[in-house]
Amino acid sequence: MSFEAFVVTKEGEDVQTAVRSLDDDALVDGDVVIDVAWSAVNYKDAMVTQPGNRVARISPLIPGADLAGTVAASDDPAIAVGTEVLAQGYDLGVSHHGGFAGRARVPTGWVVPLPVGLSARDAMVIGIAGFTAVLSLARLAQVGVTPGDGPIVVTGATGGVGSMAVSLLARHGFEVVASSGKASEHDYLRGLGASRVIGREDLTSDGARVLGEERWAGAVDCVGGAALAGLLRSTRYGGAVVATGLTGGPALETTVYPFIVRHVALLGVDTVSTPIDERRALWSEMATHFPAATLEAFVAREIGLGQLAGTLDAMLASQGRGRTLVRLGG
Ligand SMILES: NC(=O)c1ccc[n+]([C@@H]2O[C@H](COP(=O)([O-])OP(=O)(O)OC[C@H]3O[C@@H](n4cnc5c(N)ncnc54)[C@H](OP(=O)(O)O)[C@@H]3O)[C@@H](O)[C@H]2O)c1
Repeated sequence: MSFEAFVVTKEGEDVQTAVRSLDDDALVDGDVVIDVAWSAVNYKDAMVTQPGNRVARISPLIPGADLAGTVAASDDPAIAVGTEVLAQGYDLGVSHHGGFAGRARVPTGWVVPLPVGLSARDAMVIGIAGFTAVLSLARLAQVGVTPGDGPIVVTGATGGVGSMAVSLLARHGFEVVASSGKASEHDYLRGLGASRVIGREDLTSDGARVLGEERWAGAVDCVGGAALAGLLRSTRYGGAVVATGLTGGPALETTVYPFIVRHVALLGVDTVSTPIDERRALWSEMATHFPAATLEAFVAREIGLGQLAGTLDAMLASQGRGRTLVRLGG
Protein backbone atom coordinates (compact mmCIF):
# COMPACT_ATOMS: atom_id res chain seq x y z
CA MET A 1 0.00 0.00 0.00
CA SER A 2 1.32 3.48 -0.75
CA PHE A 3 1.31 6.34 1.74
CA GLU A 4 2.78 9.83 2.18
CA ALA A 5 5.74 10.37 4.51
CA PHE A 6 7.92 13.25 5.69
CA VAL A 7 11.47 12.05 5.11
CA VAL A 8 14.75 13.41 6.52
CA THR A 9 17.93 12.59 4.60
CA LYS A 10 21.43 13.27 5.92
CA GLU A 11 24.37 13.86 3.59
CA GLY A 12 27.42 14.50 5.75
CA GLU A 13 26.45 17.40 8.01
CA ASP A 14 23.73 18.55 5.62
CA VAL A 15 20.08 17.60 6.19
CA GLN A 16 17.29 17.61 3.57
CA THR A 17 13.58 17.15 4.19
CA ALA A 18 10.85 16.19 1.71
CA VAL A 19 7.35 14.74 1.58
CA ARG A 20 7.48 11.53 -0.45
CA SER A 21 5.13 8.80 -1.57
CA LEU A 22 6.35 5.44 -0.21
CA ASP A 23 4.98 1.91 -0.01
CA ASP A 24 5.09 -0.78 2.69
CA ASP A 25 8.50 -2.03 1.45
CA ALA A 26 10.00 1.19 2.84
CA LEU A 27 8.89 0.33 6.39
CA VAL A 28 11.43 -1.13 8.80
CA ASP A 29 11.18 -4.27 10.97
CA GLY A 30 8.29 -4.86 13.34
CA ASP A 31 5.35 -7.12 14.18
CA VAL A 32 2.55 -4.58 13.99
CA VAL A 33 1.57 -2.36 11.03
CA ILE A 34 -0.40 0.74 12.01
CA ASP A 35 -2.51 3.00 9.80
CA VAL A 36 -1.43 6.25 11.42
CA ALA A 37 -4.30 8.70 11.95
CA TRP A 38 -2.52 11.36 14.03
CA SER A 39 0.96 12.29 15.13
CA ALA A 40 2.20 15.36 17.00
CA VAL A 41 5.28 17.52 16.99
CA ASN A 42 7.84 17.06 19.77
CA TYR A 43 11.14 18.94 20.23
CA LYS A 44 13.13 15.82 19.29
CA ASP A 45 11.42 15.82 15.86
CA ALA A 46 12.83 19.30 15.28
CA MET A 47 16.30 18.22 16.45
CA VAL A 48 16.52 15.49 13.77
CA THR A 49 16.14 18.14 11.05
CA GLN A 50 19.12 20.21 12.28
CA PRO A 51 22.32 20.23 10.18
CA GLY A 52 25.02 18.18 11.88
CA ASN A 53 22.66 16.64 14.43
CA ARG A 54 23.52 13.32 16.12
CA VAL A 55 19.89 12.60 17.07
CA ALA A 56 18.82 11.03 13.75
CA ARG A 57 20.54 7.64 13.70
CA ILE A 58 19.48 6.42 10.25
CA SER A 59 19.16 8.06 6.85
CA PRO A 60 16.67 8.29 5.29
CA LEU A 61 14.53 8.66 8.43
CA ILE A 62 10.81 9.25 8.91
CA PRO A 63 10.72 11.30 12.14
CA GLY A 64 7.79 11.44 14.56
CA ALA A 65 8.32 10.16 18.11
CA ASP A 66 4.55 9.95 18.75
CA LEU A 67 1.86 8.21 16.66
CA ALA A 68 -1.69 6.91 17.06
CA GLY A 69 -3.93 4.96 14.71
CA THR A 70 -5.45 1.57 13.92
CA VAL A 71 -3.70 -1.79 13.64
CA ALA A 72 -3.71 -2.87 9.97
CA ALA A 73 -1.69 -6.09 10.35
CA SER A 74 -0.29 -7.91 13.36
CA ASP A 75 1.87 -10.94 14.13
CA ASP A 76 0.86 -10.68 17.80
CA PRO A 77 -2.49 -12.32 18.72
CA ALA A 78 -2.70 -9.95 21.73
CA ILE A 79 -2.84 -6.94 19.40
CA ALA A 80 -5.65 -7.64 16.94
CA VAL A 81 -6.22 -5.98 13.57
CA GLY A 82 -8.58 -3.05 14.06
CA THR A 83 -7.33 -2.19 17.58
CA GLU A 84 -6.77 1.50 18.19
CA VAL A 85 -3.25 2.01 19.53
CA LEU A 86 -0.48 4.51 20.11
CA ALA A 87 3.29 4.19 20.04
CA GLN A 88 5.89 6.60 21.35
CA GLY A 89 9.49 6.72 22.54
CA TYR A 90 12.03 3.88 22.21
CA ASP A 91 13.74 4.27 18.80
CA LEU A 92 10.69 5.79 17.11
CA GLY A 93 11.59 8.70 14.85
CA VAL A 94 15.29 8.37 15.67
CA SER A 95 16.61 4.98 14.48
CA HIS A 96 13.24 3.48 13.45
CA HIS A 97 10.72 5.16 11.15
CA GLY A 98 8.19 7.16 13.17
CA GLY A 99 4.81 8.81 13.01
CA PHE A 100 5.16 11.41 10.24
CA ALA A 101 3.73 8.94 7.71
CA GLY A 102 0.44 7.31 6.82
CA ARG A 103 1.78 3.87 7.84
CA ALA A 104 4.21 2.62 10.49
CA ARG A 105 5.56 -0.81 11.37
CA VAL A 106 6.76 -1.23 14.97
CA PRO A 107 7.71 -3.99 17.42
CA THR A 108 4.75 -5.28 19.42
CA GLY A 109 6.61 -4.27 22.60
CA TRP A 110 6.18 -0.60 21.70
CA VAL A 111 2.40 -0.75 21.20
CA VAL A 112 -0.02 0.73 23.76
CA PRO A 113 -3.78 0.11 23.33
CA LEU A 114 -5.66 3.41 23.43
CA PRO A 115 -7.24 3.94 26.84
CA VAL A 116 -11.01 4.05 27.18
CA GLY A 117 -12.22 7.62 26.81
CA LEU A 118 -9.42 8.88 24.54
CA SER A 119 -9.46 8.98 20.73
CA ALA A 120 -6.32 8.74 18.59
CA ARG A 121 -6.38 12.53 18.26
CA ASP A 122 -6.78 12.95 22.05
CA ALA A 123 -3.83 10.61 22.61
CA MET A 124 -1.64 12.78 20.38
CA VAL A 125 -2.70 15.99 22.12
CA ILE A 126 -1.35 14.37 25.30
CA GLY A 127 1.48 12.44 23.61
CA ILE A 128 5.01 12.41 24.96
CA ALA A 129 4.47 15.87 26.46
CA GLY A 130 1.66 14.72 28.73
CA PHE A 131 3.48 11.48 29.52
CA THR A 132 6.52 13.53 30.61
CA ALA A 133 4.32 15.72 32.80
CA VAL A 134 2.81 12.64 34.49
CA LEU A 135 6.28 11.18 35.18
CA SER A 136 7.42 14.57 36.53
CA LEU A 137 4.48 14.71 38.94
CA ALA A 138 5.34 11.17 40.10
CA ARG A 139 8.98 12.19 40.68
CA LEU A 140 7.90 15.10 42.91
CA ALA A 141 5.61 12.74 44.83
CA GLN A 142 8.45 10.21 45.27
CA VAL A 143 10.42 12.70 47.37
CA GLY A 144 7.36 13.86 49.27
CA VAL A 145 6.69 17.26 47.66
CA THR A 146 3.00 18.06 48.24
CA PRO A 147 0.74 21.02 47.38
CA GLY A 148 0.99 22.26 50.97
CA ASP A 149 4.75 22.77 50.62
CA GLY A 150 4.55 25.84 48.39
CA PRO A 151 4.74 26.88 44.74
CA ILE A 152 6.08 24.73 41.90
CA VAL A 153 7.69 26.59 39.00
CA VAL A 154 7.50 25.21 35.45
CA THR A 155 10.06 26.47 32.91
CA GLY A 156 9.53 26.52 29.15
CA ALA A 157 5.91 26.76 30.22
CA THR A 158 4.31 27.50 26.84
CA GLY A 159 5.93 24.43 25.23
CA GLY A 160 4.32 21.01 24.93
CA VAL A 161 5.78 19.54 28.13
CA GLY A 162 5.50 22.87 29.96
CA SER A 163 1.82 23.38 29.07
CA MET A 164 0.88 19.86 30.14
CA ALA A 165 2.89 20.17 33.37
CA VAL A 166 1.28 23.52 34.30
CA SER A 167 -2.17 22.04 33.79
CA LEU A 168 -1.48 18.70 35.50
CA LEU A 169 0.15 20.25 38.58
CA ALA A 170 -2.68 22.78 38.95
CA ARG A 171 -5.28 20.02 38.64
CA HIS A 172 -3.45 18.14 41.41
CA GLY A 173 -3.77 21.14 43.74
CA PHE A 174 -0.34 22.74 43.38
CA GLU A 175 0.19 26.48 43.18
CA VAL A 176 1.93 26.73 39.79
CA VAL A 177 4.22 29.54 38.68
CA ALA A 178 4.88 29.48 34.92
CA SER A 179 8.24 30.71 33.60
CA SER A 180 8.04 31.79 29.97
CA GLY A 181 9.87 33.93 27.45
CA LYS A 182 6.60 34.80 25.70
CA ALA A 183 4.95 37.93 27.12
CA SER A 184 2.01 37.40 24.73
CA GLU A 185 1.04 34.03 26.28
CA HIS A 186 0.38 34.96 29.91
CA ASP A 187 -3.40 34.58 29.48
CA TYR A 188 -2.89 31.14 27.89
CA LEU A 189 -0.77 30.03 30.86
CA ARG A 190 -3.24 31.40 33.43
CA GLY A 191 -6.00 29.61 31.53
CA LEU A 192 -4.09 26.34 32.00
CA GLY A 193 -3.92 26.92 35.74
CA ALA A 194 -0.82 29.04 36.45
CA SER A 195 -1.36 31.37 39.40
CA ARG A 196 1.26 33.76 38.00
CA VAL A 197 3.76 34.04 35.17
CA ILE A 198 7.40 35.12 35.41
CA GLY A 199 9.95 35.82 32.65
CA ARG A 200 12.83 33.50 31.76
CA GLU A 201 15.41 35.98 33.13
CA ASP A 202 13.72 36.01 36.55
CA LEU A 203 15.39 32.68 37.37
CA THR A 204 18.92 33.81 36.57
CA SER A 205 18.86 37.41 37.81
CA ASP A 206 20.55 36.48 41.12
CA GLY A 207 23.91 36.55 39.31
CA ALA A 208 26.82 34.53 40.62
CA ARG A 209 25.51 33.72 44.10
CA VAL A 210 25.84 30.04 45.05
CA LEU A 211 22.46 30.11 46.83
CA GLY A 212 19.57 32.52 46.30
CA GLU A 213 16.27 33.29 48.00
CA GLU A 214 14.26 30.12 48.78
CA ARG A 215 11.30 30.51 46.41
CA TRP A 216 10.05 27.14 45.19
CA ALA A 217 8.94 23.90 46.83
CA GLY A 218 9.77 22.27 43.53
CA ALA A 219 10.27 22.74 39.81
CA VAL A 220 9.63 21.01 36.50
CA ASP A 221 12.34 22.22 34.16
CA CYS A 222 12.08 21.87 30.36
CA VAL A 223 14.98 24.24 29.64
CA GLY A 224 18.20 23.06 31.33
CA GLY A 225 21.35 25.21 31.21
CA ALA A 226 21.34 28.46 33.21
CA ALA A 227 17.63 28.08 34.07
CA LEU A 228 18.25 24.72 35.76
CA ALA A 229 21.18 26.13 37.72
CA GLY A 230 18.97 29.06 38.80
CA LEU A 231 16.22 26.68 39.92
CA LEU A 232 18.67 24.72 42.08
CA ARG A 233 19.83 27.97 43.75
CA SER A 234 16.27 29.11 44.50
CA THR A 235 14.55 25.87 45.60
CA ARG A 236 13.55 25.75 49.25
CA TYR A 237 15.08 23.47 51.87
CA GLY A 238 14.02 19.86 51.12
CA GLY A 239 12.53 20.69 47.72
CA ALA A 240 13.07 18.97 44.38
CA VAL A 241 13.85 19.96 40.80
CA VAL A 242 12.77 17.64 37.98
CA ALA A 243 14.98 17.97 34.88
CA THR A 244 13.13 17.02 31.70
CA GLY A 245 14.64 19.05 28.85
CA LEU A 246 17.39 21.12 27.29
CA THR A 247 15.88 23.84 25.09
CA GLY A 248 18.14 26.37 26.86
CA GLY A 249 21.21 24.13 26.53
CA PRO A 250 22.57 20.81 27.82
CA ALA A 251 25.32 22.18 30.11
CA LEU A 252 24.73 22.52 33.84
CA GLU A 253 27.00 24.80 35.86
CA THR A 254 26.20 24.58 39.53
CA THR A 255 27.79 24.05 42.93
CA VAL A 256 27.08 21.36 45.49
CA TYR A 257 25.53 23.92 47.90
CA PRO A 258 21.85 23.37 46.94
CA PHE A 259 22.34 19.66 47.67
CA ILE A 260 24.44 19.78 50.86
CA VAL A 261 23.05 22.96 52.45
CA ARG A 262 19.40 22.92 51.28
CA HIS A 263 18.82 19.18 50.96
CA VAL A 264 17.51 19.79 47.43
CA ALA A 265 16.97 16.80 45.12
CA LEU A 266 17.72 16.91 41.39
CA LEU A 267 15.59 14.26 39.68
CA GLY A 268 15.73 13.03 36.09
CA VAL A 269 12.87 12.01 33.83
CA ASP A 270 13.24 9.77 30.79
CA THR A 271 10.27 8.85 28.61
CA VAL A 272 12.21 7.08 25.85
CA SER A 273 13.03 3.81 27.62
CA THR A 274 10.04 3.50 29.98
CA PRO A 275 9.35 -0.27 30.20
CA ILE A 276 6.28 -1.10 28.10
CA ASP A 277 4.26 -2.54 31.01
CA GLU A 278 4.74 0.69 32.96
CA ARG A 279 3.94 2.80 29.87
CA ARG A 280 0.72 0.83 29.24
CA ALA A 281 -0.29 1.13 32.92
CA LEU A 282 0.32 4.90 32.95
CA TRP A 283 -1.62 5.35 29.70
CA SER A 284 -4.55 3.34 31.06
CA GLU A 285 -5.03 6.13 33.64
CA MET A 286 -4.26 9.03 31.29
CA ALA A 287 -7.86 10.17 30.90
CA THR A 288 -8.04 10.80 34.64
CA HIS A 289 -5.03 13.15 34.39
CA PHE A 290 -6.12 14.77 31.11
CA PRO A 291 -9.88 14.38 30.55
CA ALA A 292 -10.82 14.51 26.85
CA ALA A 293 -13.04 17.56 27.41
CA THR A 294 -10.04 19.63 28.60
CA LEU A 295 -7.65 18.81 25.76
CA GLU A 296 -8.56 21.41 23.13
CA ALA A 297 -6.90 24.13 25.25
CA PHE A 298 -3.48 22.63 24.43
CA VAL A 299 -3.97 22.45 20.64
CA ALA A 300 -2.18 25.23 18.80
CA ARG A 301 -2.67 23.89 15.27
CA GLU A 302 -3.49 20.89 13.12
CA ILE A 303 -1.14 20.56 10.16
CA GLY A 304 -0.46 18.22 7.24
CA LEU A 305 2.93 16.76 6.27
CA GLY A 306 3.55 19.66 3.88
CA GLN A 307 3.59 22.14 6.77
CA LEU A 308 5.99 20.14 8.92
CA ALA A 309 9.31 21.62 7.77
CA GLY A 310 8.23 25.18 8.62
CA THR A 311 6.66 24.07 11.90
CA LEU A 312 9.83 22.29 13.04
CA ASP A 313 11.95 25.37 12.22
CA ALA A 314 9.53 27.55 14.21
CA MET A 315 9.78 25.13 17.14
CA LEU A 316 13.56 25.48 17.24
CA ALA A 317 13.10 29.26 17.18
CA SER A 318 10.75 28.94 20.20
CA GLN A 319 7.77 30.28 18.26
CA GLY A 320 5.36 27.49 19.13
CA ARG A 321 2.87 26.99 21.92
CA GLY A 322 1.21 23.88 23.35
CA ARG A 323 0.74 20.96 20.99
CA THR A 324 0.80 20.91 17.20
CA LEU A 325 -1.05 17.91 15.78
CA VAL A 326 -0.12 16.23 12.49
CA ARG A 327 -3.11 14.84 10.57
CA LEU A 328 -2.36 11.64 8.61
CA GLY A 329 -5.64 9.76 8.33
CA GLY A 330 -8.13 10.28 5.51
N1 LIG B 1 13.09 13.67 29.36
C1 LIG B 1 12.27 13.24 28.39
O1 LIG B 1 11.99 12.07 28.23
C2 LIG B 1 11.65 14.27 27.48
C3 LIG B 1 10.37 14.09 26.94
C4 LIG B 1 9.82 15.12 26.16
C5 LIG B 1 10.57 16.27 25.92
N2 LIG B 1 11.82 16.38 26.44
C6 LIG B 1 12.61 17.60 26.26
O2 LIG B 1 11.88 18.64 26.92
C7 LIG B 1 12.12 19.87 26.24
C8 LIG B 1 10.76 20.48 25.87
O3 LIG B 1 10.15 19.67 24.87
P1 LIG B 1 8.81 20.16 24.16
O4 LIG B 1 8.42 19.10 23.21
O5 LIG B 1 7.88 20.65 25.20
O6 LIG B 1 9.38 21.43 23.34
P2 LIG B 1 8.62 22.79 22.92
O7 LIG B 1 7.17 22.53 22.75
O8 LIG B 1 9.42 23.36 21.82
O9 LIG B 1 8.77 23.72 24.21
C9 LIG B 1 10.02 24.18 24.64
C10 LIG B 1 9.86 25.49 25.38
O10 LIG B 1 11.13 25.85 25.92
C11 LIG B 1 11.26 27.27 25.94
N3 LIG B 1 12.47 27.62 25.19
C12 LIG B 1 12.71 27.42 23.87
N4 LIG B 1 13.94 27.86 23.55
C13 LIG B 1 14.48 28.33 24.68
C14 LIG B 1 15.75 28.92 25.00
N5 LIG B 1 16.70 29.10 24.05
N6 LIG B 1 15.98 29.30 26.26
C15 LIG B 1 15.04 29.12 27.22
N7 LIG B 1 13.82 28.56 26.98
C16 LIG B 1 13.56 28.18 25.73
C17 LIG B 1 10.01 27.83 25.27
O11 LIG B 1 9.05 28.13 26.30
P3 LIG B 1 8.75 29.66 26.77
O12 LIG B 1 8.76 30.50 25.53
O13 LIG B 1 7.41 29.57 27.41
O14 LIG B 1 9.84 30.05 27.69
C18 LIG B 1 9.47 26.66 24.47
O15 LIG B 1 8.10 26.76 24.25
C19 LIG B 1 13.00 19.53 25.05
O16 LIG B 1 14.35 19.76 25.39
C20 LIG B 1 12.75 18.05 24.82
O17 LIG B 1 13.83 17.44 24.17
C21 LIG B 1 12.37 15.41 27.21
